[in-house]
Amino acid sequence: MNNLPVILIIGCGSIGERHLRTFLKTGRCRAIACDTRPTILADMAAKYQVPTVTDWRAALADPAVTAVVVATPAPSHVAIATTVLQSGRHCLIEKPLSLDLEGMDALQAAHAASGRACQVAYVHHSRQEVRAARAFLHSGQFGRVLSATLVSGQDFPFFRPAYRDIYYAHHAQGGGAIQDGLTHMVNLIEWILGPTTSLLCDAAHQLLAGVEVEDTVSIVTRNQAGALVTFCLNQFQAPNEGTLQFNAEHGSVKVEYHLNRWGHFARGADNWTWETFPPIDRDTLFVTQAGDFLDACEGKATLMATLAEGIQAVKFNLAAFASLRTGTRQTVA
Ligand SMILES: NC(=O)c1ccc[n+]([C@@H]2O[C@H](COP(=O)([O-])OP(=O)(O)OC[C@H]3O[C@@H](n4cnc5c(N)ncnc54)[C@H](O)[C@@H]3O)[C@@H](O)[C@H]2O)c1
Repeated sequence: MNNLPVILIIGCGSIGERHLRTFLKTGRCRAIACDTRPTILADMAAKYQVPTVTDWRAALADPAVTAVVVATPAPSHVAIATTVLQSGRHCLIEKPLSLDLEGMDALQAAHAASGRACQVAYVHHSRQEVRAARAFLHSGQFGRVLSATLVSGQDFPFFRPAYRDIYYAHHAQGGGAIQDGLTHMVNLIEWILGPTTSLLCDAAHQLLAGVEVEDTVSIVTRNQAGALVTFCLNQFQAPNEGTLQFNAEHGSVKVEYHLNRWGHFARGADNWTWETFPPIDRDTLFVTQAGDFLDACEGKATLMATLAEGIQAVKFNLAAFASLRTGTRQTVA
């Protein structure tokens, strides 16, 4: 037990606590909880019997710490992660990586010099149905993907009742549908098809009470692979559903999150062929992600999102906001 790697979780709010619990569930590490709020730390110590610390810089002085999860609100991710990598620790950074490109060069340089793993916590990479669909598309059986659609929605207040009081309520803290929810989908599409090259974005605040940030987004994009990709997301619909469809030269591939399945439909076939996985609880994907990150710390290849993908997703968000402001199509720089 004492030989297990120690993971420092910086920020033990909603997602930080989930990281703490799910890293421990792997049985492959110990953990230290870090938060600036003492009441949160008392809660973490009581629930998970872990050591706690209020100052993440002081925590990095402990040579036992081998890796860090950065689970604070987005504006602090890049500065913390850069210091973490400079200290020689592996680093898992929550999404979105940042709200702008400030500090990205230093972060990339710190990563390159460190020889350590640096991943972005786009947890949908852990979905079995997504992994299977991606592998099928990459096999080339259906040829080039020419168009794709992503339609997703959920009753966000049900899943995050405190949404008015957290980062979500403010763009400057990483809030709103584009930076908070859509970024998962954007990264997923780019993980499968490669980077977006241009986009046209519309978005509005349609329903969520007590906030003014957009809760509804429609974006049409062009992808480096030549595909036309459409994203359509809202954060108020009752059904918690997400459907991705890829239409390629020789057939279509679909992923349905809510049914835990993916399928393919060759041109000329008369129906979908499905593969369905068992239902999962809300921790499952995070346990998989934690295990993958521990593998990355051991130098093994994983399917996790890379730092470059995280930076690309920030560029997508910046182009989306520029498009919304100007009403024009934007190149993703
Ligand atoms: N992958 C996912 O599914 C997912 C889900 C929710 C949130 N997130 C992301 O995770 C990040 C955090 O979100 P959250 O919902 O947990 O927010 P939160 O507000 O619930 O928690 C953030 C915590 O960080 C702490 N904190 C802030 N600055 C700190 C510092 N300098 N040192 C130590 N602790 C500090 C706060 O006290 C708070 O407890 C955001 O970037 C968000 O987008 C990801």
